[in-house]
Amino acid sequence: MSEHRSLPSVPRHIAIIMDGNGRWAVQRGLPRVVGHENGAKAVRACIEGCAELGVQYLTLYAFSQENWLRPKAEVSGLMSLLEKFLHENTAELVAKNVRLQAIGRLTDLPAPCQVQLNRAIEATAGCNGLTVILALSYSGRLELIDAIKSLLREIELGHIDKAMIDPETFSKHLYTRYYPDPDLLIRTSGEMRLSNFLLWQVSYAEFYVTKKLWPDFCKEDLLEAMEEYSSRQRRYGAIHEG
Ligand code: IPE
Ligand code: IPE
Ligand code: MG
Repeated sequence: MSEHRSLPSVPRHIAIIMDGNGRWAVQRGLPRVVGHENGAKAVRACIEGCAELGVQYLTLYAFSQENWLRPKAEVSGLMSLLEKFLHENTAELVAKNVRLQAIGRLTDLPAPCQVQLNRAIEATAGCNGLTVILALSYSGRLELIDAIKSLLREIELGHIDKAMIDPETFSKHLYTRYYPDPDLLIRTSGEMRLSNFLLWQVSYAEFYVTKKLWPDFCKEDLLEAMEEYSSRQRRYGAIHEG
């Protein structure tokens, strides 16, 4: 990363759709799982970059609910990789003061993954630097449905009056209730879609799409995305005169 460039505004929360691992491998005549292995290396670099640059929250789309529909071998390869990644990196996360969290239907994950995930979450619970949120078995639509169910329960119990439901109340029932909305949404591999990621939360996030495939995404690319973000004018529907 070039140190001389100044960053006018650092996004508080960056969310990334880490896409293109499979294509990265296929281009090299390698099995897709090798693409995922190299994707895991890019995750490490990205966490390091965000921590260095003072980003407070980083949400990484690591595995969608729809990804369960991939061939069994790829799914089990990804799950083993997740387990290994957590096992091998937890100590370093603690050393870097990084807190790990996760969102999604986490009970869908194989038991050994859940064990490693809970260990990593517990081990990093006291860290107060960057918060990394892994989206695992995640679906934006299911998150909204889960939020509605949770709200209905609260209404039935008489804890909430349905007339009082507003965006703020609703947000408190999402998996992401502890985190601010993303400011910057990055997608690699050139695809221009959300793929069911954080449907509610990205309402006013700035989009940045790069053609780079995820295993090639490095700190320099992160910096480029942040520079582009700094040049954007966020209007939130308002008009700024003058
Ligand atoms: C992203 O890479 C990783 C996951 C979805 C788990 P892909 O596996 O989607 O790679 P492409 O899009 O097929 O290249
Ligand atoms: C989105 O990528 C999910 C993750 C990056 C984990 P996909 O590769 O699954 O999305 P589509 O199929 O291109 O929409
Ligand atoms: Mg993909």
